[in-house]
Amino acid sequence: MAVTRPPAPHRRRAATRTVALALAATIAVGAAAVAIPAAQAATTLKDLATAAGKDIGFALDPNRLSESAYKSIADSEFNLVVAENAMKWDATEPSQNSFSYGSGDQVASYAASTGKELYGHTLVWHSQMPPWTNNLSGTALESAMKNHVTNVATHFKGKVSSWDVVNEAFGENGERRTDSPLQQKIGDGYIETAFRTARAADPNAKLCINDYNTDAINSKSTAIYNLVKDFKSRGVPIDCVGFQSHLIIGQVPSTMQQNLQRFADLGVDVRITELDIRMTTPADSTKLATQAADYKKMFQICLAVSRCQGVTIWGITDKYSWVPGVFSGQGAALVWDDSYTKKPAYNGIVSAFGDLPTPTVTPTPTVTPTVTPTPTVTPTVTPTPTATPTTQPGGCQVSYVVNQWNTGFTANVTVKNTSSTAINGWTLTFSFPSGQTVTQAWSSLTTQSGSAVTVKNAAWNGSIPAGGNQQFGFNGSHTGTNTAPSSFSLNGTACSTA
Ligand code: XIL
Repeated sequence: MAVTRPPAPHRRRAATRTVALALAATIAVGAAAVAIPAAQAATTLKDLATAAGKDIGFALDPNRLSESAYKSIADSEFNLVVAENAMKWDATEPSQNSFSYGSGDQVASYAASTGKELYGHTLVWHSQMPPWTNNLSGTALESAMKNHVTNVATHFKGKVSSWDVVNEAFGENGERRTDSPLQQKIGDGYIETAFRTARAADPNAKLCINDYNTDAINSKSTAIYNLVKDFKSRGVPIDCVGFQSHLIIGQVPSTMQQNLQRFADLGVDVRITELDIRMTTPADSTKLATQAADYKKMFQICLAVSRCQGVTIWGITDKYSWVPGVFSGQGAALVWDDSYTKKPAYNGIVSAFGDLPTPTVTPTPTVTPTVTPTPTVTPTVTPTPTATPTTQPGGCQVSYVVNQWNTGFTANVTVKNTSSTAINGWTLTFSFPSGQTVTQAWSSLTTQSGSAVTVKNAAWNGSIPAGGNQQFGFNGSHTGTNTAPSSFSLNGTACSTA
């Protein structure tokens, strides 16, 4: 079955109150015609990323949360969390069909209690498989894999936004990797089976394939590119591709942006999933400066590709990085050093956001534009089937895409200007039909009074060219029913819905 899912290039979960305040400050300043990008008003990497509509994640070892420096950086600097090990096969199913979620649940409850998006890593991987899988035949291993995927994806359903369904399936030459028991015993079809099983277990989670040394355009990334293309053409579910990016200083691939873009052009989201940038130890100021420039480049690349959801860093402090244990003589790959002091890489990341183009629009947030609604809006016209309504006077179209769980949801809203004139400064209004409440908003100034919601553009997204669109989003809560608003007005004019 072909599963068509709406692209969600701006699926954000963790906009913070700080950001809302930062945006308010920016807009107030904007009204006074002093252009200060939102990024400069924010103070943490989380604020910067959220304001830019991107995720910034880190790999969490829940055992470290008792260390106050670790926890305070984790809490304040990131809007997404992934389990470094806690959701892998050996951790979640230590003996066959006996599941153990203690550590994974700790990661999930940390995400929920701190308002962070939870990214799932990983359902199927040839490494860190529990020993009991060793003795299984091909058929038995395939059943065990399906059972594993079904149970784990079901357990975390509604909590995990995306899963690395299959990790590290390819070799450097673009062939399937030969040292995988899954590949050896089940054969090529195991990836497709894993994705189909994951979709059946959690239809709302985004399903990703993840790998390393795929950052550049090379044989390995091209093999994954071909797999995605094949899956898309045959309706096999796949939504996203992860690029681990375990890099060496001075070696950010020159083709990385182009590589991410070619995947995005296939209709999948992309993400930098496990970033660390190692050096030969000990570190010195020259190496740290190179590393800072590299971190900056990596964030710039993600910022430049609209379908790049964000960047996840594979840990917080060099003290606990996996790098020295695996790459002998190398380390210092993360953003905070052994004593939790920020390294130059931190400012490298800040400057990637700071170098965003300064918005040229000065929004007029206090003025409700006195647009005369065009009374003839609902044309009773015989539809011209192929025409996209790009030239309707006063026209707008709203797409409202929701990702929801128990009593929470994220809404990503795209406002399209279907008229023939540019919009400069916009206010979108709508009503919640079932008592929903906005808790945190981004890329907008969103206020609510009873069921009525008013969304004003942020400093940088007030301009919508004819035929163009802008996006914003928010987190909200609901009481179990989450009916989508059915009508929207832009600057007082009713919009159609997409
Ligand atoms: C690593 C963890 O960081 C280590 O703690 C563990 O011992 C081994 O795995 N690619 C991946 C990650 O997809 O899961 C790996 O994480 C790093 C490489």
